[in-house]
Amino acid sequence: MTATQLLEEKEYEKRFNKRLWLKLYGFTRPHRREVFLLCLFGFTTALCDIAFPLVTRMLVDEGAVPGAEISYFGYGLAYLGLVLALTQSVRLFIHYAGTVRTHIAHDIRKAGFENLQRLSFSYFDKHPVGWLMSRMTSDCERLSNILTWGTLDLVWGTTLILGIGVTLFVLHPLLALVVLSVLPVLAWVSARFQKMILGSARRVRKANSQLTARFNEGIAGVRTTKVFCGEEKGLADFRELSGEMYAASVRNQIQSALFFPLVMTLGSLATGLALSFGGVQYIGGSLSVGTLIAFLAYTRRFFDPIEDLSHWFAELQMAQASAERILDLIETVPTIRDTHPPEEKPKGDTHSFAEPALKGTEAKGDTHSSAEPAPVGPGGASAGLLIPRTIGDIHFERLSFAYEKGPKVLVDFDLYVRRGESIALVGPTGGGKSTIVSLLCRFYEPTEGRILMSGVDYRELGLHWLQSRLGIVLQEPRLFSGTIAENLRYGKLDASEEELLAAARLVGAEDFILDLPKGLETEVGEGGCRLSTGQKQLLSFARAILGDPEILVMDEATSSIDTETEARIQQGVDRVLEGRTSFVIAHRLSTIRSADRILYIAGGRIVEQGSHEELLARRGPYFELYSRQKSREVWDLGLQSAANQERK
Ligand SMILES: Nc1ncnc2c1ncn2[C@@H]1O[C@H](COP(=O)(O)OP(=O)(O)O)[C@@H](O)[C@H]1O
Ligand SMILES: [Mg+2]
Repeated sequence: MTATQLLEEKEYEKRFNKRLWLKLYGFTRPHRREVFLLCLFGFTTALCDIAFPLVTRMLVDEGAVPGAEISYFGYGLAYLGLVLALTQSVRLFIHYAGTVRTHIAHDIRKAGFENLQRLSFSYFDKHPVGWLMSRMTSDCERLSNILTWGTLDLVWGTTLILGIGVTLFVLHPLLALVVLSVLPVLAWVSARFQKMILGSARRVRKANSQLTARFNEGIAGVRTTKVFCGEEKGLADFRELSGEMYAASVRNQIQSALFFPLVMTLGSLATGLALSFGGVQYIGGSLSVGTLIAFLAYTRRFFDPIEDLSHWFAELQMAQASAERILDLIETVPTIRDTHPPEEKPKGDTHSFAEPALKGTEAKGDTHSSAEPAPVGPGGASAGLLIPRTIGDIHFERLSFAYEKGPKVLVDFDLYVRRGESIALVGPTGGGKSTIVSLLCRFYEPTEGRILMSGVDYRELGLHWLQSRLGIVLQEPRLFSGTIAENLRYGKLDASEEELLAAARLVGAEDFILDLPKGLETEVGEGGCRLSTGQKQLLSFARAILGDPEILVMDEATSSIDTETEARIQQGVDRVLEGRTSFVIAHRLSTIRSADRILYIAGGRIVEQGSHEELLARRGPYFELYSRQKSREVWDLGLQSAANQERK
């Protein structure tokens, strides 16, 4: 079962959840004025609807009296006034509905997006991109529609129903009772049908959401699919899903097609009742012809809002799933967050809460000079906690870690890294190297054990404190749409052009940047798609060191760069690494030979560790790995020189 299916399976309690909708309704609060006007004009529209038949009734009754003087001019004016009032009301409620809807959609999207930025990695492990995308687009669209048009129809519809009901009873209580006797039947039919329509609509949406997720995967992975000739399988899956969606849609359409004529029939029945009973009353003299005409007009009008409201009620129930998912997205608290956010510390000693260290700049100045913890007042949430100015020594203290529901990836992992030490991690794929650095960066937190920095559990130190001191280059370089300069500035927001170029020079990216027609101002395309992987990697290098990080983490960062460029970067990196703690995971062992300590990681454990020479002397797994690579390199080198000779 895919993650999407799992998410769909946790389907949604069916009962109307008032609390949920009230919460969502909170999104209209900033636009109170517009919502009020929207309701007001819905109300006046309904009043106009109710007034028309009354005017007609007066006119007819006056005309029925033989020899009466009728003020046609006055009636003309009254109709004109009503028409003007009606058209203005409609114009204005459309205007305000549009405004409110756009604002609400924007606000919901913004809230969702903001929280997405905060959420921890484990959330994204569970929620596929396609799923998240349909939350931000279709769900959002849907909810903003309900909140706006649903509100309008609620005000308009209830005013109309109540207004007409009361008017009917005032005009002729007996006839009103007869006409409204259709209501219970209508209520029963509506409830039954809406339930059915709801069920099939839910299945449509479910199939649709799976289809979207499938699209997303299919498009994102189109190269892989083609290479592996997976089109057939992809198409078969797609056909099955769209078949399901087709069946559910047809059922839904048939049900809707039956429901609306039924409502109309009941409405006509009411009109028929009004006509026959009213006719008898009229002949008996207890009912004027004007009142009869008004009754007929009202019964026809009465059923419109009922149909509308039952539609919105169904929509509300159907959209409850959207509402839950959106609120879930907005309200999910990141699993990784500061246990004691600095703001929440009791006042009084906040100034000594190593504030400069949190800002970064001053701390950076200290990076190379002192690992002394800055004193913090005893008022801190962990009384007497010392917030270190720098990360200092790092102790992975008997860590165990498992990804959600997975098996343990790290077991009883213990590692002490001195400040400034360069650590290299090598070993077989899936051994746990990336997991170790993810824990270090606090993308995930240990399930057991602690990570201490300058002796303090890093969960006490704040995410910002840690992550502002880290420079990270990952296996897959991630760039954002925008210019090269903008991308680099993610590493340091206020970096000058000189700083950008200096960082680029250090990693060997300056040449290629300056060769581009627009230099630093070149647009990189979505996700950096206009650059080669190697170029993206160079930029992410430059971005990482731009912020002058205390610790540099590189996870297979050079695997997509050719050997020549790598050698060039290596010199820069060696310079950058000097005096900094670093964790380097490298595929090519030549790049990590100079590391202070090399750890061979397999099965979530340190199998052996030591310097390059020590490990070679030991003739263990590292030695084997190294010799294998060495012989391959020699072989490659041979090929290369042969090729060069040929070229000459
Ligand atoms: N996001 C994740 N969710 C679940 N399991 C994961 C995730 N990332 C890695 N793993 C698992 O953790 C183990 C270690 O992976 P990893 O740390 O990436 O190894 P390495 O970097 O050494 O190749 C592997 O068995 C892998 O399947
Ligand atoms: Mg890895």
